[in-house]
Amino acid sequence: MENELLGIVAGESFPHQVGVISTRALEVGEYVEIKSRSGALLGIVDSSAIRSRIISPEKDFETIFEAKRVSAKNPRDISYFASVRILGLVDRLALGVSQIPATPPHPGCEVFRASEESLRKIFTKQGREWVPVGSLARMNNVQVSVNINKLASRHLGILAATGSGKSNLLAHIAKKVSELNGTMVIFDYHGEYTDLSLQTKNVVPPKISPRFLDSSEFADLIDIRESADLQRDILAQCMTQHVKESDDFWKALKEEIKSKMDETKYKGSAARLLEIVERAEKKMGAILDPSFEEPLKMMKPNRINIVDMLELTERQANILLGYYLEELLEDRKRATRMTWQGNSDERYTFASPVICAVEEAHTFIPVDQHTRAKRAAAKVAREGRKFGLSLIIISQRPSRIDQDVLSQMGSMAVMKIIQPADQNYISNVSEMLSRELANYLPSLNIGESILLGQWVSIPALVKLQKVDEKLTGSDINAVEKWHEEEKRMQIAVDKTSDLIVD
Ligand SMILES: Nc1ncnc2c1ncn2[C@@H]1O[C@H](COP(=O)(O)OP(=O)(O)O)[C@@H](O)[C@H]1O
Ligand SMILES: [Mg+2]
Repeated sequence: MENELLGIVAGESFPHQVGVISTRALEVGEYVEIKSRSGALLGIVDSSAIRSRIISPEKDFETIFEAKRVSAKNPRDISYFASVRILGLVDRLALGVSQIPATPPHPGCEVFRASEESLRKIFTKQGREWVPVGSLARMNNVQVSVNINKLASRHLGILAATGSGKSNLLAHIAKKVSELNGTMVIFDYHGEYTDLSLQTKNVVPPKISPRFLDSSEFADLIDIRESADLQRDILAQCMTQHVKESDDFWKALKEEIKSKMDETKYKGSAARLLEIVERAEKKMGAILDPSFEEPLKMMKPNRINIVDMLELTERQANILLGYYLEELLEDRKRATRMTWQGNSDERYTFASPVICAVEEAHTFIPVDQHTRAKRAAAKVAREGRKFGLSLIIISQRPSRIDQDVLSQMGSMAVMKIIQPADQNYISNVSEMLSRELANYLPSLNIGESILLGQWVSIPALVKLQKVDEKLTGSDINAVEKWHEEEKRMQIAVDKTSDLIVD
């Protein structure tokens, strides 16, 4: 029912927040219209409570049992209380302006259910930069669109517990960006996106030339232990400029190492290092390729570039990610300089904006460590906006993501989060998520998300669309697979016994 009277503003009220006593329990995420003296205000229900004075928790069971009957006969005993966050004047919101009057609504103002019509004007935006992502969780027939231009300039955080729908949302965004002929680079640590059907997909093998690395990064990539000081020391001495510039990088490096074997203090370690380098040359040729001159060579503009990192260890992925992000930022800087200054000598790959997506952000952009990936991501988070390079960071442990990077996210999609540490961290780092909404996060269902920030007009609790094709990341149905396997084996046994009978 539209414009149903839901309740009355009661108690102390503030310009941003009011309490409402209502006729029924309001749903968190539901929109309401408050008829204030400044005009009709739109609000979202932040928290909702049901109270009874008679059935009070201090009493013993017998008394409560009695109280239950007394309360049932006394309809005034149960009261419904909701905390409502004010989002702006309804008329102004329809025009895309969030304007909150400086004076709070008076206690006694009537509160109505927001009409479908006004919600559509706010959420179902038309135009090329708006793409649909789902519908309002509390009003299914109102579609919600997000602004891709904002995403491409102000960064996005997709934060939720495992299995809540993060990868599904990224896959959906990738599809929409692909339809717009846009450019993305997805760092696919779990190999979840390579199978996605996209018209403009470009799967990129992760490759790096050892010539671009310093010795400690090279040591990390070829898996020399952190504690192997002597091996790392020898490697640092051997990766000379001469070696880096040699036509045959591997041969030149091995010769340098061999020469160290003559020195008694290095003898054993140099021999061991040589073995590791030889093994890396044989086994890691696909990743470490000295002939790979241009770092972004395999990436293409106007494509969804998926860097397939499935085979990489965490350390390797970290170095590659850092390296690619740095190169992407440099590339976009060159392209932008070219547009600003008409400098035609600049060479670049991406003439137009690029959206990068990093899964497992808590691993690559951690709070307490300094990694190459983190350094690069922080730089993109800070400077990317000016050069049309944006980040989507995805994580199931937001509290372990570097605070500076997380606070740069201009938009957010927050789904089910159970850990209080993660909820608190997000609402501390970003003022977008109120404490009340943060408290509600454990109650969200799969595919439900609170969208916040620049890419939506106002906060929205949305049921996100599901990407039809099955993503590789979906949970494995072990029981079904075992059952199929058993059936297959049974058929095989039956067939064999048929043969024996014949
Ligand atoms: N919007 C949605 N509606 C319905 N089911 C969804 C939705 N998003 C994800 N799922 C399902 O939930 C499961 C986990 O989704 P996924 O995106 O892989 O989660 P995450 O990346 O957060 O671990 C998948 O099986 C997927 O099909
Ligand atoms: Mg995932």
